[in-house]
Amino acid sequence: MDLSITRSENLKPKPNDAKLGFGTLFTDHMLNMDYSLEGGWQAARIEPYGSIEMDPATMFLHYGQGVFEGLKAYRTDSGQIQLFRPQENFKRLNRSCRRMCIPEIDEDFALESLKQLISLEKDWVPGAPETSLYIRPTIVAMDPFLGVRASHTYRYFVILSPVGAYYPEGFNPVKILVTSELVRAVRGGVGEAKTPGNYAASLLAGERAHEAGYTQVLWLDGVEQKYLEEVGAMNIFFVIDDEIITPELNGSILPGVTRKSVIALAKHWNQKVTERKISLDEIIDAHAAGSLKEAFGSGTAAVISPVGEIKSGDNVITINNNQTGPVAQKLYDAITGIQYGKAEDPLGWVVPVA
Ligand code: COI
Repeated sequence: MDLSITRSENLKPKPNDAKLGFGTLFTDHMLNMDYSLEGGWQAARIEPYGSIEMDPATMFLHYGQGVFEGLKAYRTDSGQIQLFRPQENFKRLNRSCRRMCIPEIDEDFALESLKQLISLEKDWVPGAPETSLYIRPTIVAMDPFLGVRASHTYRYFVILSPVGAYYPEGFNPVKILVTSELVRAVRGGVGEAKTPGNYAASLLAGERAHEAGYTQVLWLDGVEQKYLEEVGAMNIFFVIDDEIITPELNGSILPGVTRKSVIALAKHWNQKVTERKISLDEIIDAHAAGSLKEAFGSGTAAVISPVGEIKSGDNVITINNNQTGPVAQKLYDAITGIQYGKAEDPLGWVVPVA
């Protein structure tokens, strides 16, 4: 497929790398592509960053038929720009598309066109420690129609945002609250798809956690409300004795790329890592027995986020004295080392841009 490029004539000033927040600034260009039943995916184009015009009846606005991804481009010390496992994100985008009845995109083209967009915007990839260029590929249903069915037209777009830390806590341990009455997703629902509704569904519990002085919500399964699923918008891991444990993918958990990378690295290090159901009771018991060593979240935005405290009802447990543990630290160092080209890339995850 051809990719046309229209350059912006009004380039924005670049931000100060040392002062970047998350998701507030956007680069000069974006990628757009449209889908119709007759033409399939077509008219791929890099254009100046700008609004998407929508009829007020646009289906995405009413029924939320859409999917998105999140990945990052990193600047190495030598100035090379690189991506971390981008093929995994496009594979997951298509998996989310299948769940949401959205036509899949060509994964090779998605990667090639992303590389072209980033090449054009390479001066926007920040160089200060722990900064990166966050990439947001998105697909939304575009038919102006109020009946409930899958749309016949779609827009794919990619926007880029220079970012610093996602959480104000940075890499320091966060306090999380178990929510018992609200759930994020249910088995058979859309929890494993990266679709906007899952994030909307998380907001009320997130607000209640904040009001109670907690950073994140620890989500229980939506059927028995017994098993742990995710933390905030991240996957969750525990270290019990010498074993790393994470909930198995059950249909309501997002298959995180960082999650997959943590599991692969731990296996590469010959460390025991298990994917299985984990109940909240098991974690409380392991804490009481002294075998719960660490807990941490994993995600693209924060990479590894240590958990220092979990509150469930009247039960409050403190993990590893509210300090970052050695497993979380080793994983954070290894993954960010690979991403920024400071460490060996033993599993071949880095993809250079241009
Ligand atoms: C992540 O990358 O960990 C997320 O899912 C957060 C993102 C929605 C900003």
